[in-house]
Amino acid sequence: MCDSLRALVDIICSETAILQAAYAKQSAEVPTLDAPFEPGPLEFDPALSHVRHLIVAAAAQLIATVQSPIEFLQLAAPAMFESAALGFVVDVNIPDILGTASPQGLHVKELSATTGIDSAYIARIMRYLATRHIFKETAPNVFSHNRLSSLLKKAKSLEQLKADPKRRFDDAPFASIIHGFADESLASSAMLSSWLKQPLQAPAAFNMVYKTPKKMWDWLEEPSNEWRARRFTAGMKGGADMFPQDIFINGIDGSTLKADDIIVDIGGSIGSATLVVKKAFPQLRYVVQDLEKQIVAGQKFWEQTDPDAINSGRVQLQVHDFFTPQPIQRAAVYFLRVVIHDWSDEDAHKILLHLRNAAGPSSKLVIFDSLARYTCEDPNLEGFDFPKAPYPLLANLGIGGEGFFTALDLNMMTLFNGKERTQDDFTHLGKEAGWKLDRVKPGMLTTFTFLPI
Ligand SMILES: C[S@@+](CC[C@H](N)C(=O)[O-])C[C@H]1O[C@@H](n2cnc3c(N)ncnc32)[C@H](O)[C@@H]1O
Repeated sequence: MCDSLRALVDIICSETAILQAAYAKQSAEVPTLDAPFEPGPLEFDPALSHVRHLIVAAAAQLIATVQSPIEFLQLAAPAMFESAALGFVVDVNIPDILGTASPQGLHVKELSATTGIDSAYIARIMRYLATRHIFKETAPNVFSHNRLSSLLKKAKSLEQLKADPKRRFDDAPFASIIHGFADESLASSAMLSSWLKQPLQAPAAFNMVYKTPKKMWDWLEEPSNEWRARRFTAGMKGGADMFPQDIFINGIDGSTLKADDIIVDIGGSIGSATLVVKKAFPQLRYVVQDLEKQIVAGQKFWEQTDPDAINSGRVQLQVHDFFTPQPIQRAAVYFLRVVIHDWSDEDAHKILLHLRNAAGPSSKLVIFDSLARYTCEDPNLEGFDFPKAPYPLLANLGIGGEGFFTALDLNMMTLFNGKERTQDDFTHLGKEAGWKLDRVKPGMLTTFTFLPI
């Protein structure tokens, strides 16, 4: 076995050379941290994503190996301040203010004048983030945007943001996601340990913090949470747009279906997954189901993107609670995208059972969710299309691969007692509700296809 430190450094060197060569081929250089993020094909190229994951996995493991364990844990334990600081800057629109400034940025006194927050507080929050490469301190107490912070901007002018705070997250998916983590997730995480020790005391840690028996979805429907519901919709749509569309097109595989066969998108929010599938298979019929607020938002979304779909009846938006009997019988495909991970096994079972009761003999159930992966080798995944992690990396590439999804798993646990599931979990969940797991296609989101038993 070769020296693990040397092997980590070698991965970093060889993969960085691959990344640089890919950019050089396009007469470009790997973007620096100082320049704002510019979306482009190289940023989202799947092969290059894997290269980036390997570099991050190796660099993170190198840090974990060489850093003093005391310093490592002293940094890990107060990680909640990362959420809190990000939440604060997004809340008071600092990324939007800096977005209108020159590349040199602004002094904290200028940020204070626009936000109304004490400049000394702003300086400390900004320095905490700049120490972690989010924003750049160009001179003492002067901060500008960089590659990471530039993604925190919202989609409206400062005047619009201030005039209509309820709608401030509209069309700003990334700021919405960041703010959501720093809001309900951060607050609820404070009760996670208490909840885990006595999980029967409340549906989830979220309920203990917000003193409500309601599921977060029903709580979001309360009038005082309208801004949060809007933020959730914006975040969900943007997050979903980042997934390669082929996942959904191949997963539904409408080419094997007859014209006018029905596809039901359960818990579909505004229907952004349906829009992708409908573009690929316009001959099919679609029903998007969700709770009322999401369906109302969906009406606006379809009016803007594809009004004919609704007017012609090819796409129907339907208020439906998936804990009640499914009204669309014998659909060709029932699909759920990032829905099942929101629910405990008990609740997920009820959702799948209602679909099984409505299914016909040739109906399919397709679940798009992440596949939880062990940090060591998983014999169940042999034969699947996963690139093997090189020595000495963790089998799931650690934070370079599953970092966000393991965080999402704890987010599901904290907010809803939901979970990301392994392949075994999905097999078992399906079987209990009368569905046989027929195919698993790994990807940025994994496609689990079930057939009626
Ligand atoms: C994580 S989001 C996924 C949205 C959508 N599938 C997508 O990928 O964009 C979960 C969705 O489940 C919906 N939902 C929650 N409880 C529901 C219920 N009881 N019946 C129907 N939909 C529900 C939420 O409103 C939300 O839109």
